[in-house]
Amino acid sequence: MPRYSEHPIAPQFLQRWSPRALNPTLSEAELRCCLEAARWAPSSSNTQPWRYVVARQGEPAFGAVLAALLPFNQAWAHRAGALVVACSLTESVPTPEHPSKPLPGSAFDAGAAWMSLALQAHALGLVAHAMGGFTREALAQAIALPAQGVRIDCVIALGRPGDPAELPEDLRAREHPNGRRPFAELVKDGRWA
Ligand SMILES: Cc1cc2nc3c(=O)[nH]c(=O)nc-3n(C[C@H](O)[C@H](O)[C@H](O)COP(=O)(O)O)c2cc1C
Repeated sequence: MPRYSEHPIAPQFLQRWSPRALNPTLSEAELRCCLEAARWAPSSSNTQPWRYVVARQGEPAFGAVLAALLPFNQAWAHRAGALVVACSLTESVPTPEHPSKPLPGSAFDAGAAWMSLALQAHALGLVAHAMGGFTREALAQAIALPAQGVRIDCVIALGRPGDPAELPEDLRAREHPNGRRPFAELVKDGRWA
């Protein structure tokens, strides 16, 4: 299904999408390349409040993270080369000069970092598919998340593009790029309405 923009944009923004058909082949260099791209995202006062817990295919951590996903996501994400749990700090890291303070905008910054990761994956010919469908308590336990100061934002399935024929039938039917709301619905001039 082709995508069209209402205004000219760089091709990567239309060509990147979120397939569920994955091939788990993923090199350590590719994984690190995507995480490195995320590291260079902009953030409020350069706080860089994103943190990642990486579970590679074949490691015990992979099974633990997979088990915390909702069944809908387990059905396809088990073919990922890595599951990356993307977290953001809700409080700053204290230093001798600056005590810890709340970071109310950290999820916005972590979202920017996720998009950098996704676009880097796309540039490498890889798939990065975000998932909000997980059981928060189970996932926190699986990755030994501290009791406070950090939240889980999403889990990112990373891998090579796979064969849609290997997906369950209902997911195979959804394996195509989707569209977007009209530009005018999202962008207003001067006033909300
Ligand atoms: C924070 C976030 C959570 C998402 N959660 C899920 C999910 O649990 N399962 C899933 O299959 N896709 C999930 N997605 C993928 C979105 O459905 C997808 O990005 C959206 O439909 C736009 O499609 P595109 O990424 O192909 O352009 C999520 C995406 C984001 C950014």
